[in-house]
Amino acid sequence: MASIMTPADLAAFERDGYRIVRGMFDAEEVDLLRRAMEEDPEVRDHMIDRLDAQGAATRIALWNRAGGSVYGMAARCERMVDTMAALLGGPVYHYQSKLTAKEPFVGGAWEWHQDYGYWYYNGCLFPHLASCQIALDRSGVENGCLEMVRGSHLLGRIEHVPVPGEGQNVADPERMKAIVERLDIVPCELEPGDAVFFHANTLHRSAQNRSPFRRWTLICCYNRVDNDTLVRADDRYYVPLEKVPDDAVKAAGVRFASGDEHFATRAFVPKVG
Ligand code: SIN
Ligand code: MN
Repeated sequence: MASIMTPADLAAFERDGYRIVRGMFDAEEVDLLRRAMEEDPEVRDHMIDRLDAQGAATRIALWNRAGGSVYGMAARCERMVDTMAALLGGPVYHYQSKLTAKEPFVGGAWEWHQDYGYWYYNGCLFPHLASCQIALDRSGVENGCLEMVRGSHLLGRIEHVPVPGEGQNVADPERMKAIVERLDIVPCELEPGDAVFFHANTLHRSAQNRSPFRRWTLICCYNRVDNDTLVRADDRYYVPLEKVPDDAVKAAGVRFASGDEHFATRAFVPKVG
């Protein structure tokens, strides 16, 4: 196992529902990933706007398979996959990856949610899923970094309701009031190459980007193999994940989509509330 989490890191993840890893990808690797996100026509052609409660757009591109691209290598490399397996307590497969792009001045917010608030409807019986957000730009409070509610993964799944407008659901606002009175909100500031791993039930949000600084991140999500989706409406069901050595990211260079990514043409937003 090439997990980058020590036993103390794993204990902290179990307590807090998230863990930051500094320098998960080095400068050369981040540069390749950033360039692929900026230049790959498949990524560009699959950008989707999702509106926040004020109508500001946060942009995403989503793909369900980790293919032969450089970002496929990042999602399939040993340090990532083995860490996810250690966090989730068993073998994992790639569930989804996404570019989350907040442009300077206009980038929209993500409202409070649990990823399992969405993925439950994809027919995952257990919340045995987790994500890793990799910063491609600096991601700080000034440009809308991810904020976690520490320990909120232990609350279980919370009901979500639709955000007026389009494209996002939000964790029950009445319940959120009580939760943020009792638990801490922690901004996860990342430098390029840093990563934050977080559990599918950890409540998170991020503010609008009113700064002159772009905030792009790549998020890779995993499901435990024994928690395959019951719903087959999209292609996030189990397919074996072919792990690659850590040096495969650099070896790939700025390699674009290989045609087996299964890009999504719209976001999966379950009808709730
Ligand atoms: C997400 O929750 O999927 C994205 C959050 C962000 O990029 O700020
Ligand atoms: Mn999320």
